[in-house]
Amino acid sequence: MPIVIEKLTYTYQSGSVNAFTAIMDVSLTIHDGEFVGLIGHTGSGKSTLIQQLNGLMQPTSGKVLVDGFDMSDKKQRAKGRALVGMVFQYPDYQLFDETVYKDISFGPKNMKLAPDEIDRRVREAMRLVGLDFDEFAEKSPFELSGGEKRRTALAGIIAMYPKYLVLDEPMAGLDPAGRRAVLAMIDDFRKQLGCAVVMVSHSMDDIARSADKVIVLRDGAIFASGTPAEIFSRSDELYEMGLEPPFAARMASELKRHGFRLPGGIYTNEALADALAAYKGGDLNV
Ligand SMILES: Nc1ncnc2c1ncn2[C@@H]1O[C@H](COP(=O)(O)OP(=O)(O)O)[C@@H](O)[C@H]1O
Ligand SMILES: [Mg+2]
Repeated sequence: MPIVIEKLTYTYQSGSVNAFTAIMDVSLTIHDGEFVGLIGHTGSGKSTLIQQLNGLMQPTSGKVLVDGFDMSDKKQRAKGRALVGMVFQYPDYQLFDETVYKDISFGPKNMKLAPDEIDRRVREAMRLVGLDFDEFAEKSPFELSGGEKRRTALAGIIAMYPKYLVLDEPMAGLDPAGRRAVLAMIDDFRKQLGCAVVMVSHSMDDIARSADKVIVLRDGAIFASGTPAEIFSRSDELYEMGLEPPFAARMASELKRHGFRLPGGIYTNEALADALAAYKGGDLNV
């Protein structure tokens, strides 16, 4: 069963003079196990949209169904919410307990799991996010670096084994090595538990590496949706929106302008390298 968003509109301060419609008539489906990348300029409505997925905000109109549970209905919402793990843009707001261990075990405890199972999940989640148990379990979340806080927040969510893992800019503020590590860990977690991932990111390169489907938001509406190859072949339109296509897509389009006969749909460094390798030993100045 998927997440289905039907004609969703969300207006902040609805009915007041400051009313602002951040999401307008958005429909989309998130299938089991799918990795959906959500991109768009700052202010395009990405955070507003994903916060509808766990029922934190109620639609002004339209519907959000999580595995059939209507998130506007109080009783159904609790059931839908149990399937969705949300990691917010600013992990500081998500950490509140005395120790990293207690923080990560908070969710599993609420699920009323047996103590052994809670302990097993906390250890597993810490391993998955790359936090050494002996070093970090008894530390206060407030002593952690930005990257470690992010990992702790993520561990607390994955320890609940969500069916849908929703991440708002999980790599923001990390250096390139940190970004790769977080992305690899999301991939690992997804393989291990088979969950779907919805990831908001500014980085087209990060989305290009992992997403099965890319959704582009513009002014609160879906501007485009498709496979990474489909979306990233529309480099010019992305540029116009202030979004920078993945490096490989830009490079491929530049090389084509210089007469290279490259196949379409290149958007990862690996695909670009393969295409260029085909020229090896040949005449590069075609
Ligand atoms: N609490 C709020 N009250 C009024 N407007 C808001 C509020 N939060 C966000 N907005 C507005 O809604 C729009 C979408 O914001 P947001 O969903 O945070 O976009 P994104 O995550 O893509 O940067 C922006 O124009 C923003 O200013
Ligand atoms: Mg945002």
